[in-house]
Amino acid sequence: MLDIRTQVGIVGAGPAGLLLAHLLAVAGIETVVLEKRSREEIAHTHRAGILEQGTVDLITALGLDARLRSEGFTHHGIELRVDGEARRIDFADLVGRSVQLYPQQEVFTDLADGAAARGLDVRFEVIDAELEGIEGESPTIVFTDTDGTRTRLGCDFIAGCDGSRGISKRAIPDELRTDNFREYPFGWFGILTEAPPSADELIYAHSPHGFALISQRTPTTQRMYFQCDPSDDPDRWTDEQIWDELDRRTSAPGFALTHGPIVDKTVIPMRSYVCEPMQHGRLFLAGDAGHTVPPTGAKGLNLAAGDVSVLARALERHYREGKDDLLATYGTTALRRVWKAQHFSWWMTSMLHTHPDANSFDNRRQLGELDLVTTSRAGSTYLAEAYTGWSLIPTAPGYLDPASALGEVLASQLRGSGDMSPSR
Ligand code: PHB
Repeated sequence: MLDIRTQVGIVGAGPAGLLLAHLLAVAGIETVVLEKRSREEIAHTHRAGILEQGTVDLITALGLDARLRSEGFTHHGIELRVDGEARRIDFADLVGRSVQLYPQQEVFTDLADGAAARGLDVRFEVIDAELEGIEGESPTIVFTDTDGTRTRLGCDFIAGCDGSRGISKRAIPDELRTDNFREYPFGWFGILTEAPPSADELIYAHSPHGFALISQRTPTTQRMYFQCDPSDDPDRWTDEQIWDELDRRTSAPGFALTHGPIVDKTVIPMRSYVCEPMQHGRLFLAGDAGHTVPPTGAKGLNLAAGDVSVLARALERHYREGKDDLLATYGTTALRRVWKAQHFSWWMTSMLHTHPDANSFDNRRQLGELDLVTTSRAGSTYLAEAYTGWSLIPTAPGYLDPASALGEVLASQLRGSGDMSPSR
């Protein structure tokens, strides 16, 4: 057994784990990041693509925004399409904010490239990781390294950033953990197609045939989804059937989806989950390890960015200021944002999808709700505010408040980048 040591051991090198490692490096705190999957596998898994302005600011403050700015797209609004009628939600007008369309796997690539450049210790393809002693002063992560060496990583703290199927949350004893869980009676059928964008902005379409979302990736590729049976087999669907389904759900006067070869098909389950508490002893959960949202509001990565901002500040306070108050309240601080986003994701999901056991009252009520949201400034403003997200720098105590050294460095780097908002 090889013994090594670090200050913060991070389980998982997805966006949550890597963002945390970057933030801690800025604060002068050492980390080792352990990941089960290969770098290639993570980089090639298609994920949702919307970054809140606060997430973009965080990536910018870390100096990792070059590709996001040259290859991403700024969106100033979305369209809600209600039975063929376009109802635009104008983020710029309603809340003066925007979002960036830039897929999560690209954020991962930028964070991983940046980690190598910053000299962070990130190890992919390590297996059989186990957490030990999280209730004591010196927790450890025992794992088998890429070269087969069984290794014991001694840490001051462990950050569990290993996603919804990871080992971290199960280290919180069952009797202390509440698994708040909800499963939806539908999934999303996701495709990637080689055809230019069908519209300038995202279209969230409600129709009697079910929900559909028209998104984009590049000037020559689009990402689209439609509500399906969660147990559906993607290979059962021919391209022609997929296009028929997408066409009828998005149909509107003067509108035609641009079709092309379908190069990827997946069925995504829809779940909402929150683990409470998000911390136990010296273990702190962040990102999908602590919570899952259905993809409807694209909040997953953004919530991870929120969690790690709180955690990085709390760890900085421990090491620099010798105080553990922010560590003690990490979970409750992070959970306030998480539950707001959970509500928003659940609300968007319920408002836009057709429900298998809905009666005529439920269907008419849902249309009334969509009408209310899209015709009332107060209703649209709520959607715009929640969709574009809540800021991370500066923000409520416990986040990266500029009064802290870490917050100050990040805020000054953000100002120094000369651009507080996405570029295109
Ligand atoms: C995506 O582009 O993959 C995407 C966008 C918005 C969502 C979900 C997914 O709400």
